[in-house]
Amino acid sequence: MADRIAEEKIDQVRQAVDIVEIIGDYVQLKKQGRNYFGLCPFHGENSPSFSVSPDKQIYHCFGCGAGGNVFSFLMDIEGISFQEAAIKLAAKVNIDLDLNQASVHKERKASKEIQAMQDAHELLRKFYHHLLVNTKEGQHALEYLLGRGFTHESIDKFQIGYSLNSWDFVVKFLSKRDYPPEWMEKAGLIIKREKDGTYFDRFRDRIMFPIFDRHGNTIAFSGRSLGAGEPKYLNSPETAIFHKSKTLYNFHQARASIKKLHQAVLFEGFADVIAADRAGVENGIATMGTALTDDHIALLRQNAESITVCYDSDNAGIEAAFRAGNLLNEAGFQLKVAVMPDGLDPDEYIKLYGVEKFRNEVIGASHTWMGFKFLYFRRGKNLHNEGDRLSYIEEIIKEISKLSKAVERDHYLRQLASEFSLSLDALKQQQKQIYFAEKKTAAGNSPVNRKPVIVQKQVSELKPAYYKAERCLIAHMLKDRDVAYKVQELLQGSAFNFDEHQAIITYLLGFYEDHLEPDTSAFLSYIQDENLRRTVADIEMMSINDEVGNQELTDYIKQVLNYKIRLKIKEKEAEQKEAERQNDIQKAIRLASEILELRRSL
Ligand code: CTP
Ligand code: MN
Repeated sequence: MADRIAEEKIDQVRQAVDIVEIIGDYVQLKKQGRNYFGLCPFHGENSPSFSVSPDKQIYHCFGCGAGGNVFSFLMDIEGISFQEAAIKLAAKVNIDLDLNQASVHKERKASKEIQAMQDAHELLRKFYHHLLVNTKEGQHALEYLLGRGFTHESIDKFQIGYSLNSWDFVVKFLSKRDYPPEWMEKAGLIIKREKDGTYFDRFRDRIMFPIFDRHGNTIAFSGRSLGAGEPKYLNSPETAIFHKSKTLYNFHQARASIKKLHQAVLFEGFADVIAADRAGVENGIATMGTALTDDHIALLRQNAESITVCYDSDNAGIEAAFRAGNLLNEAGFQLKVAVMPDGLDPDEYIKLYGVEKFRNEVIGASHTWMGFKFLYFRRGKNLHNEGDRLSYIEEIIKEISKLSKAVERDHYLRQLASEFSLSLDALKQQQKQIYFAEKKTAAGNSPVNRKPVIVQKQVSELKPAYYKAERCLIAHMLKDRDVAYKVQELLQGSAFNFDEHQAIITYLLGFYEDHLEPDTSAFLSYIQDENLRRTVADIEMMSINDEVGNQELTDYIKQVLNYKIRLKIKEKEAEQKEAERQNDIQKAIRLASEILELRRSL
């Protein structure tokens, strides 16, 4: 463990950074009143329940309850320690944390292996690129690329390279620079021979596409064979620094454009991303030759509202687009599907028809998700055949039934009616039938309601009156140190009824001992306990009046104390009953008058 960072330094960093800016790197935020809102990066959702307060420098999600300050946000989203988050933020605002050199060294040593893996990738990326663009050995590879329509510009931008036709060039290159071969094998750059324990290069005589993480570090390679050699693409294996299921090709470069346009274009292959970039489509990304995962979707969700899927238009590509589209639609993206003619892929299309036509007639003329389904279900059917035609119409009506907006359903039913000369009324009726039939089976199959927002709201509405009163009191105490002490005084030694609330005010009074001004963000760091932190963030987001009068405070306190009195009354009533049962008249009378006394005090 590294030693602690000085408290003042943490305060300095917190004051220098802006939470909206930091979170804005991960979540698309929109200003609404005093706060910013966006889709929560910690749980899947379609409507924004995640809010960030610039005044308080905190965030809170009404859906899943996540909440905290800028430090906890980075810790949670990046999966890093408090120390690491502090170091990251300090670097952003140029604050020197004065970390003890020995402890820095220790931390570094632990990640030395990772660092070496990354450095080796960095080094090789530069070297492969150099081989491709500057040397005789790479000339045939360069000619192959140029022949395929790659430009010098995009070769530079995507740092494309060439790996020599040698079994041990990389082995020697890295060992000469003191990279331990065991680590380089773990990094996937070289492979160990079973028989004698010697090593050989993984990538030989291939076009090298470096793969970057979202910060622009080189973490893997994909090597394409020149011509027909198998496999066509050879990828780095999964390593400590490379996870296919979390990596999107070109994400680090496309991100700025994705954020600006609120939109990304998803391709199947690297060659497509690069060709599209040449056509001015700079928000293109691709998976690593695998299906789209939840991690990919979460990453996209943080940066885009809309996705255009632009896959190969061969059979496999259309099936893959349908699968990816379903996942993306489910995740709440505005979805479009760009379709090309005749089984082409985007790269081939651009080569054949040019960049302009690609932009206008493919990307620009993308289908809506429903429009794509009209095409998708039509494949392999002969619509002149009545059986095929009827099953097609039924499939489409089923899809239309899934649309939540009445105008949309109406629009597509009309389209269907006019295309097949059917009565709109009949179609509407059939659509309703299908809708109710599907709803019934759905209700029977999945009892789980996936709407956390609503569930939480209902729960809090069921909470007793003191619960809300305690929250309001804490909200005012968080805003004003004097109010905090006042409340403590008014409580006359009694505690809040809800344990979590009591824990928070205990912390808060401790906090005010050495902080003269309220500062929610600083307070959140002070608490540390994750659950309490969430509750504080939740309370902070309640809208309360800026000023609180004495009467209001007394009313809240009364609700808190009344609950205790009611509990006591219940207790005494039980005792009274017991006394009556035992014929202890005197005790029963005494209890009765005590109960009366308590009732009066309510
Ligand atoms: N892929 C892979 N391994 C293979 C073939 C394909 O990892 N053996 C991945 C690559 O990421 C590739 C994507 O799948 O970019 C799409 O494959 P494909 O359509 O066959 O390749 P293209 O992108 O068309 O590549 P090229 O134009 O160079 O043939
Ligand atoms: Mn291709």
